[in-house]
Amino acid sequence: MLHNEVIAILDFGSQYAQLIARRVREAGVYSELVRPDITLDQLRKLNPKGLIFSGGPASVYEPGAPKCDPRIFELGVPVLGICYGMQIGAQLLGGQVKPASAREYGRTKLTVIENDALVKTLPQETTAWMSHGDQIHELPDDFIAIAKTPTCPYAAARHRTRPFYGVQFHPEVTHTPRGETIFRNFLYEICHCSGKWTMGNFVEQAVATIRQQVGSNKVICGLSGGVDSSVAAALIHKAIGEQLVCIFVDNGLLRKHEQQLVENTFRGHFKIDLRLHDASQAFLQHLRGVTDPQEKRKIIGAQFIEAFKREAANIHDVRFLAQGTLYPDVIESGHGYAGTAANIKLHHNVGGLPEQLGFELVEPLRNLFKDEVRKVGEMLGLPEEIVWRHPFPGPGLAVRIIGEITEERLKILRDADEIVIEELYANHLYRKTAQVFAVLLPIGTVGVMGDARSYDSVIAIRAVESQDFMTADWARIPYDVLATMSNRIINEVRGVNRVVYDISTKPPATIEWE
Ligand code: XMP
Repeated sequence: MLHNEVIAILDFGSQYAQLIARRVREAGVYSELVRPDITLDQLRKLNPKGLIFSGGPASVYEPGAPKCDPRIFELGVPVLGICYGMQIGAQLLGGQVKPASAREYGRTKLTVIENDALVKTLPQETTAWMSHGDQIHELPDDFIAIAKTPTCPYAAARHRTRPFYGVQFHPEVTHTPRGETIFRNFLYEICHCSGKWTMGNFVEQAVATIRQQVGSNKVICGLSGGVDSSVAAALIHKAIGEQLVCIFVDNGLLRKHEQQLVENTFRGHFKIDLRLHDASQAFLQHLRGVTDPQEKRKIIGAQFIEAFKREAANIHDVRFLAQGTLYPDVIESGHGYAGTAANIKLHHNVGGLPEQLGFELVEPLRNLFKDEVRKVGEMLGLPEEIVWRHPFPGPGLAVRIIGEITEERLKILRDADEIVIEELYANHLYRKTAQVFAVLLPIGTVGVMGDARSYDSVIAIRAVESQDFMTADWARIPYDVLATMSNRIINEVRGVNRVVYDISTKPPATIEWE
């Protein structure tokens, strides 16, 4: 069973909460983030093998600092408190937390001082990442110190009689190189988990769940060519075969070869019933003369729903709509302290579709992180080009053509973008970057081509590295690769005489230009 073994992570507002969840899963145990004010009854229902208290705001004494039910230890399951989570746990068990005389941020030397299950197989000296203002001031008698740092005598500690462990440092970040060992020790030595969370088991379980939910009914799945909808479709197809019908809407704003890739993969390889709906003319007509980014998004969202509805009307007796919702979306839309990033752009282009069509949802990926989805995609035999595809926004090239969208400008951008991606692949940089694309700017600049003066368009190359797309840094693509991209674009794409490279971080710039 999928959920017979779960670690519940109480998220006290840590920027690393999702990272903790991923580390636990990477170690082979399913984990879920929950609100810190979850009731004991809710927790009992979840039946966790262990709890993790995440880090959080600077001080447990701050007014409004998140707290959990003080009776939480009555559950009797092992608890690992990280940073703020250690302080909360220690405070509940009678310890004193005070602002540390030396605030600790960054890498520090961690020395193991007690032979304990939590630090089993850890070298006596290792590196840990600290980021806290407060620390436990006095360790009550019923606590034992397990590890220390030069300024923190209780960098790791445990309660003598209760299964509570705490670490002041962050084992979940890569700057704590042996963090994985600490998680594994907690999961296997202390919580006695069996470690059955693998993507192979997930697929097996998901197939059974989909069959059970869907029965003999039909499911429609909107394919975009992106990772999430592709993996959802392949998974559902494995479960119910011909009961799945996929719809791919050509909105006229796709990259070169996008439709072909989807067709080859899903119709050609998987033999899925794929309906291609060409709505490009309707999209482009409605976008004529529109330059405002949000307006573009609204039009595209509305047109997409229209197109999808039109195609769906040709498919009879459908009860379900599949969506490639992932766990971070689920967390952001209601889990509380995590992911409350401002909605700067209208990201959800298909919002409202299931309600309008009267469908029930099938969301087989809603408990997975992106890296897990990719693993599932690989297991299901999706091509690398799809599994490792960079994200592509729903509004497509419309938000990469600054200013008006015309057939001519679309062609310029498609050709330029194709070159950028080709060179990225050729130089083995595609997998090393999070998102890379070309943008067409709404200005002409002067150039000389041959003996003649030209007045042509500018292409900007945007290449970023990012873990979660909430923050991003511009990718340090080698100059010679940029040079090839630029030369090829200017030589091969008519209408472009200048290429620039975007060196802005997010924030304050966003990844897309619109
Ligand atoms: P920004 O530009 O906000 O983008 O830094 C973050 C990530 O979201 C993608 N993005 C969108 N995806 N509809 C989408 O489906 C949209 O309207 C949209 N706008 C941005 C962007 O490509 C990046 O991966």
